[in-house]
Amino acid sequence: MPGRIALLAAPDGKLDTLARKINSLTRGAVRRLLDSDQFDKLKPGEGHVIWFPAGLAAEAVQVVKLARNCDVVSARKAGAVMAKFAGEAALTVLAPTHPRAAEISFGLALRGYDFDIHKSKPGKGAGKVSFMVNNPEKVAAEAAPLAALAEGVFFTRDLVNEPSNILTTTDFAARLAAMQELGVDVTILEEDQLEKLGMRALLAVGQGSESPSKVVVMRWNRGRPGEAPLALVGKGVVFDSGGISIKPAGGMEDMTMDMGGAAVVSGVMRTLALRKARANVVGVVGLVENMPDGRAQRPGDVVKSMKGDTIEVINTDAEGRLVLADILWYAQQEFKPAGVIDLATLTGAIIIGLGHENAGVFSNDDALCDAFLRAARTEGEGAWRMPLGDAYDKLIKSRIADIKNTGGRPAGSITAAQFLKRFIKDEMPWIHLDIAGVALRKVATDLAPKGATGWGVLALDRLIRDRFEG
Ligand code: BES
Ligand code: MN
Ligand code: ZN
Repeated sequence: MPGRIALLAAPDGKLDTLARKINSLTRGAVRRLLDSDQFDKLKPGEGHVIWFPAGLAAEAVQVVKLARNCDVVSARKAGAVMAKFAGEAALTVLAPTHPRAAEISFGLALRGYDFDIHKSKPGKGAGKVSFMVNNPEKVAAEAAPLAALAEGVFFTRDLVNEPSNILTTTDFAARLAAMQELGVDVTILEEDQLEKLGMRALLAVGQGSESPSKVVVMRWNRGRPGEAPLALVGKGVVFDSGGISIKPAGGMEDMTMDMGGAAVVSGVMRTLALRKARANVVGVVGLVENMPDGRAQRPGDVVKSMKGDTIEVINTDAEGRLVLADILWYAQQEFKPAGVIDLATLTGAIIIGLGHENAGVFSNDDALCDAFLRAARTEGEGAWRMPLGDAYDKLIKSRIADIKNTGGRPAGSITAAQFLKRFIKDEMPWIHLDIAGVALRKVATDLAPKGATGWGVLALDRLIRDRFEG
């Protein structure tokens, strides 16, 4: 049996030429649906399926209700609902005159993602999808950079979904090294080099693990020669047991996603390379595993960071900030960036504050921060600004070292951000994104099935296009 058909209906029930054709072939079935309260009850971006329509060889026709203002977010949502409808069947999308047909296809691709490589009987994957449009060259040209973006998102999701016995620090680094084929310059710093650089804070986190700690630097330099790059810095804790301050068993399995920040950085770098972005961007990720062991660091240890500041480790489970302290400093020293954006699944407290709908955004630079928030809003990625302030620093004052790594329960996400700020140079524009609540979801979202979302790849790519690409 031939596959399935999706068509678009304006909120007022207006149909394009191909949809009218389907309506007449089905002897008015589409129009009867539009005139019914079934259609009234649909929200924009939702669809209704007519199964085994008379007069058509297709298995089913899905009528998708469009939004009144069809921005990129609602166009993608319309595509996503088609992905759920198509499943493994072949799908033909009729969008002859829709101005955002490419965005519809992008939403379809994002929602069609599935992580089933570890099932002994994996699904067949998405069926073939064809679009019927009046201006195929134009739509194809618009879809090309979106395909690069989808690949970046999938790269991020695959990394976040991958369990920690497979995605070790070594395996993660190897997957990043493979991006050399795309023209990304990849350097892997091993433990002896990290030791020489003085990254004792990062190394202390990984010293209880069998997996060696690594820092991976990814450089994409197709912007103006000599122009300072944007630095993207990511927390890559491949598994966070908590260390000696071990976490409770319930839910510990979710800590396979504690490398989500590094995964977003990697996905953005992949997208930039695939779409040959005219920008200078450097990605730096700290890959470590936080495990309890005879060699693991203890609560109460004092470590010296690459910057030189000493840190009292009150809680070995506040490890992300130790990793970031050193790679933030390294990124600034080594690359003299025009700005720094770090991403980290840093605190449970950000989930208490913002839930799973918004990432926490902390910044010392209103212009850069506003540009990021605009990019996130355009892309439909929830982001909410949180405060910084020197008054919080008293919570992380240490009796015996320069600073301590936890500030207790009050303002847990803010004290974490204040900790990081200590490793940001004066005048350096900086954004810290706490993505603990948004990197992984227990329920499907508009554009992603359950599991890794890839949150941030779209917003950061747009920010780079808007602000760092000439
Ligand atoms: N990786 C966790 C934060 C986290 C929690 C990410 C839930 C995703 C979901 C982080 O390393 C952590 O353990 N943070 C502690 C900090 C505390 C010890 C100060 C926390 O949030 O409880
Ligand atoms: Mn932790
Ligand atoms: Zn962690």
